[in-house]
This record gives sequence, C-alpha cells and structure tokens, in this order.
Amino acid sequence: MSETTLEFDPLSAEFRADPFPLYQRLRDEAPAYYSRKYDTWFLSRFDDIWAAERDFRHFTIEAGQMPNQVLGVADEPPPEASGALGAAIAGLDPPRHTKVRALLAPHFKPAAARRLAPLTRSLVRGFLDEMAGRGEADVVLDLAMRTSVRIACTIIGLPLEMSDFFVERINTMFQRDETGYRQTEAGMQGVVEMFGYLTELIAEQRRRGNAGDTAMGALLDSEIDGERLSEADIRANVSLMLIGGTETLPKVLSAAVYRLGQHPDQRAACVADPGLVPAAFQEALRYDMPTQMLGRRVASTWEIHGESLEPGQGVLYLWASANRDEREFPDAARFDVQRRAPRILTFGAGPHMCLGAHVARMEGEILLGEFLARIPEYEVLEDRGVRLCSELFRGWVSLPIRFPPS
Ligand code: HEM
Repeated sequence: MSETTLEFDPLSAEFRADPFPLYQRLRDEAPAYYSRKYDTWFLSRFDDIWAAERDFRHFTIEAGQMPNQVLGVADEPPPEASGALGAAIAGLDPPRHTKVRALLAPHFKPAAARRLAPLTRSLVRGFLDEMAGRGEADVVLDLAMRTSVRIACTIIGLPLEMSDFFVERINTMFQRDETGYRQTEAGMQGVVEMFGYLTELIAEQRRRGNAGDTAMGALLDSEIDGERLSEADIRANVSLMLIGGTETLPKVLSAAVYRLGQHPDQRAACVADPGLVPAAFQEALRYDMPTQMLGRRVASTWEIHGESLEPGQGVLYLWASANRDEREFPDAARFDVQRRAPRILTFGAGPHMCLGAHVARMEGEILLGEFLARIPEYEVLEDRGVRLCSELFRGWVSLPIRFPPS
C-alpha cells in the first residue's frame, strides 16, 4: 500500500516545470499511485510498467491512450477531426489490433529500416550541407524534422513535396493553451487541415486502385475478415504513422545534441570513435524520453503493490520515470554514453510497442553520426531554444546551435 503525502497531478504547473523530482517520489513512496481526482492509477517503476504493458488482457486501449483521454479532460474534437486515432492501431485491442498491425509490419521490420538507410543518409548530408556554411542552425527544424517527415512519407507512400505542409501542422498540434493541457485553436485547425488533405488523397487512391508497395498501399489493398478497411480507418492509421514518425525522433536527436553539449568529454569520445554513436543515441532515448506517459483503462481487476486496480479506472504508464528508475539503471540520473542499457521503455513494450522503433534507431544513428562528423564542435544556444513541456511531451521543438562554419 502506498504511504505518501504527495499530491501528484500531471496537469499541474509543478509537473510541467520539472517532473523528475515527482517521479522519484512516486517510485520510492507510491509505485502504484491512485489519484481520486481522476480515478486513475500511475505506475512509475520500470518493472511494473514492463509487466502491465505486456499483460494486456487486463487493460484496454480502446477508450484512448492519451493522458487527457485517460484523465477525462479531453475536449470533443470538431467533426472534421473526429476518429483521430480511435480506429488506428494505437486505439485497438487484439485481435483486431494484431490483424491491422500485421498489414503494416513489413514496412517497419529491421530489413525495411536498412533499405531506408541510404535515402536517410543522403537527406541528412544534404541538410548538413545547407547548414554547415552558416555557422548557426536549428537542430530540430533545419535537420531532424526535415529528415523524419520525409522518411515517414516514404514509408507511408505520401508525396514528399507535402513535407513542409505536414511539419507545420504537426508542430502546432501539440502546443497547449494557457491551461497547460488543452490543445490550442491553431493546433486543432492544423489537425482539421491535415485530415482534410488525407481524406481526399485516400479517396483518390482508392478510386485509382493498386496503391503500391507502401504502408498506405497495404491498408488500401488488403482485407480483414473479408472486408476492406474503411477510408476513415486508413486515414487514422496514416495520421498515426505520419505524426508518430515525424514528431518524436527530432526530440530525441536534439536531446542527444543538447546532452553532448553539456558533456564535452562524452562528445569528444563519440567524435573520436563513431562506433559509440548507437550507444549514445540509445542513452538519449533512455534519458530524455519525450513521451512522458500513455495509458489504458482497466478491463479486469489487476493487483500490484497491495493495491487493486478495478475495471473502468484509468492507468497511466510514466515512461520517462521508468527510464530513470534506479532499480533498473545504476546511477540512473547520470547521462552516460558508455552505459549500454540492455532494455529501455522509450518505445513501450508488449503488443503496442512502437511500430517505428527500428526505423527510429536507424534514423537517429545516421543523424547523430553524420552530425558529429560534420559539426564536431558546437555551442548550444539554450536561451533561444524552445521547449515543449506538457503532460504528454517534453523536449525541444527548436534548438539553435552555433559552430565554426565549414
Ligand atoms: C524516437 C522516436 C520514437 C519514439 C520515442 C516513439 C515512441 C512510441 C511509443 C512510446 C509508442 C507507444 C507504445 C506503447 O503503447 O506501448 C509508440 C507507438 C507507435 N509508434 Fe512510435 N516512436 C518513435 C518513432 C516512431 C516512428 C519513426 C514511427 C513511424 C514511422 C512510429 C510509429 C508508431 C506507431 C504506428 C505506433 C503505434 C503502435 C501500436 O499501437 O501498435 N514511431 N511509439
């Protein structure tokens, strides 16, 4: 049973300012913390989240996995944006989840990620060419996001020339208004515009038929239990892959650049030995996990730490806390490119584990490796950086750096 005086509220200003001291107290004092206000449980230790996520029969994702949905504070979306992720794999339980995910899986396997490596490298080198002579650049906007959106579009089968249109809308989508947790008007408008575009594109592809060997093609051309997927379901999955593929990776890459800026000795080690880059990227994934939490609803009673989670209650997995759990990672609060953690929770675990994990690692390792080879010395202009700190995400949305032009 938990014994804590802590009043944990992920929508509080205190949480947005710095969640890590709160995570520490939760892990130590109340690893299964119940919030009466939201009728929701919070799991904060690595092993507990690992177990809960894999034991998916006790939990359902179909009532929504976003923190605002689990906490019951989500606004009704406008009709043009409804069904946003509901019919996507991130909103489905097995067995339907398994079937839809199987259609997409071939486009995300390690071999598929390897096939995308040459394209990724040439995109990254091109963006670095543009940056290198300037002596100042933005790691998120000039480099990482331009790469991640193009790789996501390639996998899905979306036109590359729409990349900037998508980036602008995705960037506003996760901004919050003055409450700190509500989407802004502009963000909602961005969703509506992106959905409008995808709705027309998918209808047009369906009319034409034979959509090709892409993730969207697989959704358009296949049947599940004898029925074709609806255009709304296809749009939900395409949006999920596009947003998931574009949004998160730049936050990890910029975290890696930021942390290596704070630790010049570790940066020098990576420059001297590029073989260290995958371990450095893995450490950035662990240390600065952007997605703070996602959740489920309890489907049948689940017991942990002497507490009983009852059907209908919410449960939120505090990923970023799990990745700093001292029970799993010795000296967890230290950023250390030599760490080589055998497992992390940055991509989740269990059936909903990130579909893009292999692609993300491939992109991240190429981005970081090429970046350090081209710009081994730099200064992070932290005061000009912009950080998103909400209940959902924590990470740089803009991170300018200065370096000797070349
Ligand atoms: C560093 C980058 C990334 C991080 C940190 C990340 C993180 C996550 C997390 C935490 C989940 C939920 C896992 C769960 O509930 O167990 C997820 C799911 C997902 N991600 Fe990623 N992701 C990244 C990159 C990508 C990329 C590049 C793509 C696609 C191109 C992608 C597509 C997806 C999809 C489709 C799902 C839903 C999977 C399902 O519900 O079955 N992600 N991701």
